[in-house]
Amino acid sequence: MLSHRQGERILVLAPTGRDGSAACTLLEQAGLCCRLCSDLNELQRELGRGAGAAVIAEEGFLGAEAAPLFNWVSNQPPWSDFPFIILTARRDGPRHQRYTLSLIDKLRNVTLQERPIQTVTLVSAVQAALRTRRRQYEAANYLREREQAGIRLEELVRERTRQLQEANDQLTAAQESLTMALEAAQMRTWNLDLREDVVAASMQRGASSRMAAVLAEWSRNVGERVFLEDRGTFEEAFSRALGTGKFHLECRVVGPQDEPRWVVAEGRLYQDQHGHPLRLAGTLRDVTERRQVEESLRQTQKLEVIGQLTGGVAHDFNNLLTAVVGNIELAALRTRDQSVLAILKSAGSAAERGAKLTGQLLAFARKQHLAPRVVSLNELLSSMGDLLLQTIGVTIRIETVLEKDLWAVMIDPTQLELVILNLAINSRDAMPNGGRLTVATKNIGVSDRHRPTGLAERDYVAISVRDTGSGMTHEVAAKAFEPFFTTKSVGQGTGLGLSQVLGFAQQSGGEVRIDSYVGQGTTITIFLPRSRESLTRAVDEARPVRHDGKAATILVVDDDADVRELTVSALEAMNYRVLAAENGRVALDVLRQADTVDLAVIDLVMPIMNGRQLATRIRAANPGRAILFTTGYDDLSGTDDPFAQEMVIKKPFKLVELAAAVERALAPRDGEHPASNVTPIRQPKRT
Ligand SMILES: Nc1ncnc2c1ncn2[C@@H]1O[C@H](COP(=O)(O)OP(=O)(O)OP(=O)(O)O)[C@@H](O)[C@H]1O
Ligand SMILES: [Mg+2]
Repeated sequence: MLSHRQGERILVLAPTGRDGSAACTLLEQAGLCCRLCSDLNELQRELGRGAGAAVIAEEGFLGAEAAPLFNWVSNQPPWSDFPFIILTARRDGPRHQRYTLSLIDKLRNVTLQERPIQTVTLVSAVQAALRTRRRQYEAANYLREREQAGIRLEELVRERTRQLQEANDQLTAAQESLTMALEAAQMRTWNLDLREDVVAASMQRGASSRMAAVLAEWSRNVGERVFLEDRGTFEEAFSRALGTGKFHLECRVVGPQDEPRWVVAEGRLYQDQHGHPLRLAGTLRDVTERRQVEESLRQTQKLEVIGQLTGGVAHDFNNLLTAVVGNIELAALRTRDQSVLAILKSAGSAAERGAKLTGQLLAFARKQHLAPRVVSLNELLSSMGDLLLQTIGVTIRIETVLEKDLWAVMIDPTQLELVILNLAINSRDAMPNGGRLTVATKNIGVSDRHRPTGLAERDYVAISVRDTGSGMTHEVAAKAFEPFFTTKSVGQGTGLGLSQVLGFAQQSGGEVRIDSYVGQGTTITIFLPRSRESLTRAVDEARPVRHDGKAATILVVDDDADVRELTVSALEAMNYRVLAAENGRVALDVLRQADTVDLAVIDLVMPIMNGRQLATRIRAANPGRAILFTTGYDDLSGTDDPFAQEMVIKKPFKLVELAAAVERALAPRDGEHPASNVTPIRQPKRT
């Protein structure tokens, strides 16, 4: 930028005589700032440094190279039109006139002053030129300011654009995270316009009420159809939202494949400043899986409670049956009357049926007394071929698919046979017109891809029974394990088959799964924990019983009077000396007073002092005392049970079984079980 003084300078070029210095003196006297130039070159240089006007005598152009000056003039910036005052001689010739005109043309802003010049005229011409020049400076300033304002504005716009872009990016990122979060949570959003005109418009399209219009709008928004049965709940939720501002609804909708799905909608009400509802907006979440898990948990808990109840009832029932069965046997020993014997036989077989039923209930309650041993399932299943054939008939083809090198399991083989039979009978009933029954075994390792979810982290052996029968609906499959749940007509099924299967599997440390679709058959798979123990064969043949009592003294301890009396009578019939006690305390008294007691027969489950506690007290006083436990159901002894190796006889027992057990308890022989009903207390080891 020019300094003030520089821009106000008057450049003077008048090469002849003293004209130049005289003009400078004159102008300086008028307060102007002058610069005397010796030739056109110098003048042009000084112009480049800045000046307000130039006074040039026309002879200054004579013989000089004027082109650079003319160039300077034509290259001035737009605001500049530099004023020249040319001093001419008074000559009227046409040549001179042409010359002057061409000068005016090249220098553009020219004022001609004829000589001789009056001082006043020159000064006023120069001042006028300077004023013009100042206005040009003002214009230049103005343009510069405008230009700078433009630049500032551009910068401002750029900054704002950047901020906007940043905000946009943040918004996009927030939207993306929201979408991701919604997707992860399987959520969608919905927005319902509640303004009167919008609702009115949708009412005109055929909806019969304001609520129905909103409902239609909501359904359209979420793309699902609400179950007819749940529409009342929806309307309630909507009315509540108008009052409280919060919307919450759990209802069923029809899913994309026409399947029912459970959804939860949460939202809030937006109102204008007068409290008129504007819109209702929120999220929608599919909770079908959660509801299914909750449902199966409820089912498991229900089965658990039923199991406990069943266990209790079956226990009491077993005591009754023990008395019934035993007394029938005792009565039979005391008569030779064939007609009475026939009656007793029929009573006996009815009691046995009762015992079988109690056995099933105990199995479901996981309270059955199991006699587990390490078995090869393949062998066991192969040996069942004939039995299965007889049970399910010839219209059904039986196939077995047995895995080679199947792992061993530790289970009660008799119970497993019953379980397989139960499943086969169910399949037979589901295939009245014949079909195919496949029994398969398979090793299921920890990382096996056929492994269902929810199994513990361990190796299992799976036995599956598959049929091509009617299959089950979802509702039937959900209830199939419940005791007494049956779809069969009265007398056809008790509804205990699958309960027993489940109880057996769980008591053996395993699980059961149903896979069934209507019209596509059923597969029931039992997962049994792999056993690391090697195969052994237990001796479980019943030994012949001798009835020649050896005057041994036996103490019978049982809180159930009927069972106690029966046991006493039976043992007396076997010629033993028998003492009795109704609980642990009395038993200890009896033991203190009696001279010799060779064997204590103790019920495991008794109030006040249970069988184990009593046995502990007896052994404390006399470590060698023989003990035989009786039990109506197993109360699940732990592996650290000090009595794990003691014999236990399961109620209801037959007199022959009691006799054998007593005989063995009085004179034990290692490795032998006197009857299949008499086993060590020990539970299957959970490997
Ligand atoms: N293989 C199958 N195919 C189709 N439905 C089955 C099958 N197995 C079981 N069900 C259904 O599950 C119900 C319960 O079975 P469960 O074996 O517990 O009792 P049940 O067979 O009815 O009576 P029970 O076995 O005591 O004689 C059956 O009534 C039937 O509706
Ligand atoms: Mg059944």
